[in-house]
Amino acid sequence: MSSTQTGAATGDRNSFVYVVAGLAALNGLLFGFDTGVISGAMLYIRQTFELTTLLGFSVNPSYVEGVIVSGAMIGAIFGAALGGRLADRLGRRRLILVGAVVFFIGSLIMAVAPTVEILILGRIIDGVGVGFASVVGPLYISEISPPKIRGSLVSLNQLTITSGILIAYLVNLAFSSGGEWRWMLGLGMVPAAILFAGMLFMPESPRWLYEQGREADAREVLSRTRTEGRVSDELEEIKETIRTESGTLRDLLAQWVRPMLIVGVGLAAFQQVTGINTVMYYAPTILESTGFEDTASILATVGIGAINVVMTVVAVLLIDRTGRRPLLLTGLAGMTGMLAVLGAVFYLPGLSGVIGWVATGSLMLYVAFFAIGLGPVFWLMISEIYPMEVRGTAMGVVTVVNWAGNLIVSLTFLRLVDVFGQSGTFWLYGAFSLLALVFCYKLVPETKGRSLEEIEEDLRETAVGNGLEDRSSKATKTDD
Ligand code: BGC
Repeated sequence: MSSTQTGAATGDRNSFVYVVAGLAALNGLLFGFDTGVISGAMLYIRQTFELTTLLGFSVNPSYVEGVIVSGAMIGAIFGAALGGRLADRLGRRRLILVGAVVFFIGSLIMAVAPTVEILILGRIIDGVGVGFASVVGPLYISEISPPKIRGSLVSLNQLTITSGILIAYLVNLAFSSGGEWRWMLGLGMVPAAILFAGMLFMPESPRWLYEQGREADAREVLSRTRTEGRVSDELEEIKETIRTESGTLRDLLAQWVRPMLIVGVGLAAFQQVTGINTVMYYAPTILESTGFEDTASILATVGIGAINVVMTVVAVLLIDRTGRRPLLLTGLAGMTGMLAVLGAVFYLPGLSGVIGWVATGSLMLYVAFFAIGLGPVFWLMISEIYPMEVRGTAMGVVTVVNWAGNLIVSLTFLRLVDVFGQSGTFWLYGAFSLLALVFCYKLVPETKGRSLEEIEEDLRETAVGNGLEDRSSKATKTDD
């Protein structure tokens, strides 16, 4: 199909690329919906099932609740671990299709679950789908985007994560009067079905196609997503950089890639240990302690979800203009400041009146700073900084670290509050946030406006400059 058939061409792109990225960003919606929906559903699951036995053993109900909530994260860890390699083997597009089916099945099982064990099974399957989606969504969009707008297009995935969380909060609110938790969880089938149906019509990543030796197909995809003039240039760049073999875990540990492995793992861990998900999962509990009534705290939680979405829109608009680093560093500085304030206000004896409002305001600003920085920039950077041959594997590994961090933080939050109090816990996250700021200032590169191949070439040159090995010498490339 020619560019004129698929949409208007502007600059180096064709408007069809927006359709492709927008649709693929539904992966983020699955992720966000799954994150936001469980806290609301849990309130009513408790009333349907006896949570005192699991697989015939008598257990503490709070333990069973913990398993239901964290089941999806455990599934996501597996999904992410498999997803990187699968994205290389099956292709990006096919893995998105598989992920949507898995997520759909998981949601269906939860909606009809006759026992708590089957509910947990559905939650784990759902989580595997989210794990796939979290790796392949940003990966696919990054590889299909022209460099100048890659930041915004990949960040659409974070925008749909935050929208998914907000939609889930609203769904919880809508179904709460009847306590219809099966509807809350089952609704996840809708975005999964749309993603599946839409992706059937979307093209494969041109970079993956080229790596498979399918140059003609890669050219065809580029001609659908770029203006005429850009197609050959970009294909040339891809040719110069991409090797035909996809890399293994060992290649990921090669010295020249290692600095970026450290950057990815560091960003993944810091994105979680700075505490964002304690707010996403426990906002009503935190807000109640600042003096809000039950319903008011649920509404304020919706407000927090909305701020998260709005500030992510700001990031989408800015990220290709300001670059990644300014947003990341500003966001982290703001998060550190807000966590320090939150620690201080919770340290005070009473949270009534003005102090209660300062606490709520700081919580909202903390989310806003996450949403312009660490939220979108993490997922964007990990789709940009790895060489093609290890990109899928690397993103899988880094995403596993992110989900594991998510699980650890959610499981330990209430315990930390018991031991250190709320103020101590916020200060702990604040200390991690300060560390993250130093880490990012020193180690995270700027990738704005450069093609994935230029970023890879720079990494190679820096390694050569530092006297490090370059395991995958260019000689391995064979033209088809
Ligand atoms: C994080 C999630 C988090 C969400 C909140 C994402 O970037 O990976 O763990 O729940 O942002 O907006």
